[in-house]
Amino acid sequence: MKPAILVVDDERAICIAIQRLLTVRGYEVDTAPSAEAAVEKLGQSVFHLVIMDLSMGKMSGMDLLAWVKQNAPETAVIMITAYGSEKTAVDAMKLGASDYVPKPFDNDELELKVARVLDSMAAKRENRLLREQVESSYRFENLIGKSPPMQRVFDVIRKVANSDLTVLVRGPSGTGKELVANAIHYNSSRRGKALVKVNCAAFSRELVESELFGHEKGAFTGATGTKEGKFEIADGGTLFLDEIGDMALETQAKILRVLQEKELERVGGNRTIKVDVRIIAATNQDLEAKTRDGSFREDLFYRLNVVPIVLPPLKDRPGDMPFLIAHFLEKASQRLGRPQRALSPAATRALLAHEWKGNVRELEHAIEQAVVLASGDEIDLPDLPSALTADAGVAAVAIGGGLDDDGPQTSFKEAKQRVVEQFERQFIEEALERHGGNISKAAEEMGMYRQHLQGKLAEYGIDAASYRSRAPGS
Ligand SMILES: Nc1ncnc2c1ncn2[C@@H]1O[C@H](COP(=O)(O)OP(=O)(O)OP(=O)(O)O)[C@@H](O)[C@H]1O
Ligand SMILES: [Mg+2]
Repeated sequence: MKPAILVVDDERAICIAIQRLLTVRGYEVDTAPSAEAAVEKLGQSVFHLVIMDLSMGKMSGMDLLAWVKQNAPETAVIMITAYGSEKTAVDAMKLGASDYVPKPFDNDELELKVARVLDSMAAKRENRLLREQVESSYRFENLIGKSPPMQRVFDVIRKVANSDLTVLVRGPSGTGKELVANAIHYNSSRRGKALVKVNCAAFSRELVESELFGHEKGAFTGATGTKEGKFEIADGGTLFLDEIGDMALETQAKILRVLQEKELERVGGNRTIKVDVRIIAATNQDLEAKTRDGSFREDLFYRLNVVPIVLPPLKDRPGDMPFLIAHFLEKASQRLGRPQRALSPAATRALLAHEWKGNVRELEHAIEQAVVLASGDEIDLPDLPSALTADAGVAAVAIGGGLDDDGPQTSFKEAKQRVVEQFERQFIEEALERHGGNISKAAEEMGMYRQHLQGKLAEYGIDAASYRSRAPGS
């Protein structure tokens, strides 16, 4: 599908010049000599973009702009303004025009602006599509993920949630271990009871034990009353033991006993208390190595590791990126009461290319910052944390050829290229899958030209025909 453009100007020569220019560039271009004629055409067929002169006959460009925004809000508008009327141009932008070109205009400038406006429309559509998918199969409670490893994690959660099996969740910082614990608890029959969380790294050994098992009055200096431990509070529910790798060996022995006997004594007490608690433990440490060097009990490790769930670092699941981005954009806009803006193509590329050492948490924070800072039509590069824009700057310089092609820029460029390609390839394959190998439909959904998509298929060696048999319902 070619993007359809309507050119509205009472100067016939201008209409024809723009029509020629853009037709050559592969757009479908129609013209109208007045605002009234434009309204009629807009009533008959769908246009993606209207390029209009500001000053025309009875009905002005401003009136037409207002009409379009009212009656065809999905259609973008570029205004052609007389030289020196920037003020009016700004007013038009406030009314919803996407851009303006001062007359007399330069062909390259017009072309560039048209391409940019259409690109950003495609990005918005893509964003909407992703959001819809996030709402469906790519989410489990608050966990988002469509990559195979995340889909497997969802699968395991579904299977074990409703049992009392102990789960050990592992993965680097910020990969969603706590969210997994939440998802398990809230999908289990224990959901009506408490999900209690203890950070085993947060306190001294004495305090952790008093937290976990409670204490009797006078158990230690400062224990002025009796206190219930988290095991007791979690009775009937779930206890989440976070950062289990940081637990002292003595405490590990006591935990092991509770797991085996399902009973405990408070610190400084000798009454036996029965508890019925499901345990989920989490760590980002190498517990196998710790069992080898003796800092983690092997028997406890096996007790905990009944159901292992491993969350890979974000860099190993690029397929989750677009969905996480869409999810966090929506979440942050809602929480902060900001309008939902799309990401500019440059900002999207920067997010995809960045090395997320802090994993999903870092990505979420970056998007929150961008949502707060963005003031334009879309979220752009400068709204992102400076670490990301620095990456993008290096890439731009390298791509522009301003520096030698050797050196670190090249490897960064290559790395970025790989991520973008991986993302693009997957995006295309999924669209083909949804449309049973129909290139036109897939291109339309992605807001791409058919020819452009065909070029990409050739580049990546994707055979659209091989998706035919996989069409849903065929
Ligand atoms: N798959 C995901 N989908 C949606 N949000 C996610 C996902 N993974 C992580 N997050 C978000 O990232 C942040 C960090 O997640 P979480 O606290 O669960 O990570 P963690 O693995 O426990 O990290 P740490 O090891 O640092 O404690 C949270 O705000 C969480 O909502
Ligand atoms: Mg955590």
